[in-house]
Amino acid sequence: MTKSGKTGFLALIIGIALVFAVIVLPLTGCDDGNNGNGNNGNGNNGNGNNGNDNGNSGSGNNGNGNNGGTDQTDNPPVDIMSLPPMKTQFSSYFMIGNIFNPGDVSGSSVTNTRLTRHYNILTAENNMKPSYIAPSQGSYNFTTADSMVNAARASGFKVVGHTLLWHSQNANWMTSSSCTPANMKTYITAVVDHFKGKIYSWDVLNEVFPDGVSASADWKTAMRSDNPWFANQGYSFVYEGFLAARLADPAAILYYNDYNLDNSGKAMMVRNMVKAVNDKYLASSDKPVGESAGRLLIEGIGMQSHHNTNVQASSIRATLNLFKPLGVKISISELDVLGQSYQDFAKAGHGPNKQGSTTVTAQGLQTQARLYGEYFKLFIEFKDIIERVSFWGITDNQSWRSAGLPLLFDSSGKSKPAYNKVIEALGQ
Ligand code: G3I
Repeated sequence: MTKSGKTGFLALIIGIALVFAVIVLPLTGCDDGNNGNGNNGNGNNGNGNNGNDNGNSGSGNNGNGNNGGTDQTDNPPVDIMSLPPMKTQFSSYFMIGNIFNPGDVSGSSVTNTRLTRHYNILTAENNMKPSYIAPSQGSYNFTTADSMVNAARASGFKVVGHTLLWHSQNANWMTSSSCTPANMKTYITAVVDHFKGKIYSWDVLNEVFPDGVSASADWKTAMRSDNPWFANQGYSFVYEGFLAARLADPAAILYYNDYNLDNSGKAMMVRNMVKAVNDKYLASSDKPVGESAGRLLIEGIGMQSHHNTNVQASSIRATLNLFKPLGVKISISELDVLGQSYQDFAKAGHGPNKQGSTTVTAQGLQTQARLYGEYFKLFIEFKDIIERVSFWGITDNQSWRSAGLPLLFDSSGKSKPAYNKVIEALGQ
């Protein structure tokens, strides 16, 4: 080989090596993020959701970490305690909330540092529901709820009261025959008055409309028949229930709260009910002394947002546009997004409140991340009406739907691609 031939051959070898380094290595990392990040590959190991499965959750969490792209989904997993407080990052848009349980509190403060770092408003996951605080008629057990509410406030959180009128987790005495107007008024007055001045907003009525309801139905008759308050009183309980709450604590913001509000039929029922109740209130003299003219009775709609990979941001946008003319506040009140379709989640027999093994794939976690990002861009766009975005849990293993890996942080508290996309929405 001549000297120039040797030089050309050397240049060719260097060129191939460069191409390999720039293109092929990153792709290999993308295919198998576990290689470069073996310790992250199974950030989900600790939640009992795998060990069973195909390792998809691990590779999904970090396989993207090496793919050479530029968006923040590529960021490697970071421990939740090392990340900037989300409540600060989103402070010019809305509050960032989460749920809490008795174990998150000790003495007079919230001791779960993940909560205190990232969130500024808390909802008791279970302990303020009727089965917990109103075990028998006329008798109340506020001990646990009091310690939670007082600790949350002492630690600087606002508190959401969840929930007064529901068909589930009811006290045994709340049968259709005993859910009379008088008993409802007594119960709501006792509970709301007990916490008076401490609750930022109350979920007064929860999930009163059935799934699959048609947008052309009459909200007055379309309610769930298993709601004992509706079964006893018909639709009038809605107005009377909200009114009792307003009179007991005029400072609290009163919410209607429901899931699947991306569904146009349910959204229309909620819109029609809220409008009718508020119109009636505005025309009445049923107000607390000194209340400003024009104040609404139902001042907020909670969109629970227990989503899955089939829920498109466009459906949520349609509902936000439907609700906007009502002049009420919106809270995204119980956000979680399965890393799979609801059908796949249910088919695997996961169901709610079961740990189980996950069937979420790497692709599912990427879709979940994309959707979280799209939702947050939408929430920021609607910041004028959205006052709070609350997650229903911090880490996947804590979730009521843990097998669907629905939250921003894996069981070891490391950020998932979904977290990165939520933060990326800030830079839109
Ligand atoms: O406390 C008992 C415990 O003593 C018992 O050993 C154990 C056996 O299963 O059950 C425990 O109660 C469970 C309770 O959560 C507390 O952990 C119930 O079985 C379980 O059904 C209950 O699930 C709650 C669910 O509401 C009930 O509908 C979830 O934690 C809670 O996240 C969930 O929250 C609801 C919102 O309030 C309204 N929107 C939907 C959302 C998700 O379902």
